[in-house]
Amino acid sequence: MNKPTFLKATVSTVALALLISCGGSEEKPAAAAKSANPGGLTDWQMTNGVGPLTSDVQVGPGVDEALATTGSELFETKCSACHKLDERYVGPPLRMVTEKRTPTYIMNMILDPEGMVKKHPEARKMLAQYMTPMTNQNVSEEQARALLEYLRQVDAEK
Ligand code: HEC
Repeated sequence: MNKPTFLKATVSTVALALLISCGGSEEKPAAAAKSANPGGLTDWQMTNGVGPLTSDVQVGPGVDEALATTGSELFETKCSACHKLDERYVGPPLRMVTEKRTPTYIMNMILDPEGMVKKHPEARKMLAQYMTPMTNQNVSEEQARALLEYLRQVDAEK
């Protein structure tokens, strides 16, 4: 191999290696994002869940105590068979859930648990962990809002 040919071969090998490594590093995050989000959810849906609510639920700076009391009663009748605040039960403990999830995510989970475990990667992860699907408790949007307020009250107390 004379010198120029050797040089050319070396340069093109380096160029090829660079091309492959660049291509590879570009592809990796995209592939990871796809497997973490197989349903192709939007960023808003990733944060706020999929379900009947498609815009941000507004909450006050403080807790609406009357609404939280309504939520607490609903929690006893519709949720406590599966959830405790501090311990794993059929479902996950719910204390601090308002720190972990947005108000809209929590309400979408309450209003459409079937849709959530079908489409949302976080809910799917929890289903894999708890092995039981959360059942739809047929609560209205107002009732779900009251339940959210109860969970906010719990978390405000800590
Ligand atoms: C049949 C048992 C069952 C009932 C009843 C139930 N849940 Fe669940 N819940 C679960 C399970 C199990 C999960 C974890 C996701 C899954 O496996 O579907 C869950 C998940 C959740 C989550 C998501 C927690 C997180 O960290 O993302 C919230 C919020 C929630 N439930 C609230 C409620 C509320 C409020 C009620 C009452 C209206 C309720 N659940 C009724 C079993 C139940």
